[in-house]
Amino acid sequence: MSAAHDDAHAHAPEQPEVSHPLLWSALILGIMAFLAWLFFHFLFQGMHVARHMEKIHTDQAGEPEPNHDQLSRNNSQAVVDEGQAIYNAKCASCHGAQGNTNPTNLKPAPRNFHSEDWKNDKGGSPYALYLVLTKGYNTMPAFPGLSPEQRYAVDHYITETWTKKLNANAYVADNSDDLKKQIPPPGATGVEGAERHPERVELKGPVRSLLAGIAHGESVQVKSVRAWAALARNGAKPETAFLADRFVALVDAQPALGQHLHVAVKAGDRKRFDTLLAGSDGSGAVRADFSLASADQVGGLFELLKGVK
Ligand code: HEC
Repeated sequence: MSAAHDDAHAHAPEQPEVSHPLLWSALILGIMAFLAWLFFHFLFQGMHVARHMEKIHTDQAGEPEPNHDQLSRNNSQAVVDEGQAIYNAKCASCHGAQGNTNPTNLKPAPRNFHSEDWKNDKGGSPYALYLVLTKGYNTMPAFPGLSPEQRYAVDHYITETWTKKLNANAYVADNSDDLKKQIPPPGATGVEGAERHPERVELKGPVRSLLAGIAHGESVQVKSVRAWAALARNGAKPETAFLADRFVALVDAQPALGQHLHVAVKAGDRKRFDTLLAGSDGSGAVRADFSLASADQVGGLFELLKGVK
């Protein structure tokens, strides 16, 4: 440092340290809010996709394999009795109390244990039926809530009570030697999990309430947008009434679009409003209901909607 500089510094009036704690805090909070938004945005997008588009692969890892060989052969009366209780509680609602009726409207119908053959590719051997309960089969749900012992018990109840006596061709006493080679040893973990349709996956506590909260929030918004459209319709002059009618119908049929339109009107964004009405998907397709209206008429509708308190 030069002497001149030191000099100038010495004579300069005392400067308070320049720092804006408030600005910094605001900035940091802003960044945190943005990150949180990003997180939830993608979380919900993922949830949406998962729940509505794709099957969820629930890994049963952590559930150690039971002793399949032993459980496959243990069809003692005690086991069959335990299976009966489970059957009545968990299966009868679909397969009928006696295993041969269909109280549902499912297609294909739940298996009739008195007369039908097995469809899964491993047949009617104990391990095959255990897998049906572990992984589910088509519309037949998986039962991860039953312990492996319980799954075997209810299968034994079915086969000993009905298959063996009434449907002998479908009765398989034990796993074939071939199948035994595929059975994982007791204690192994991380073997195949269940594939289930997302709608069938039971949600655990916090996720369920989170989703319920979102669904509720959405339905409140949808209702308020509908009420908004209806209010506008009531206040419409004769020349805009027909468009207001169509608007009410549109919001009713497409709640999500209704919300976007609501936002556009509240922001006074006429261009966006027009674009949305013309077809929001960017395909250039024009909504038939509004394509015949003149720009003035659409403008009238816009002002009408804007005026609703
Ligand atoms: C929600 C209704 C429903 C419930 C509850 C239900 N099942 Fe099923 N089950 C079905 C349907 C539907 C099928 C037929 C699926 C197919 O043919 O594609 C089926 C098929 C089966 C099969 C035949 C699999 C095969 O390879 O052919 C077995 C075994 C079976 N269920 C056992 C049970 C047991 C044991 C329970 C109770 C723990 C139970 N099911 C509960 C609907 C149900």
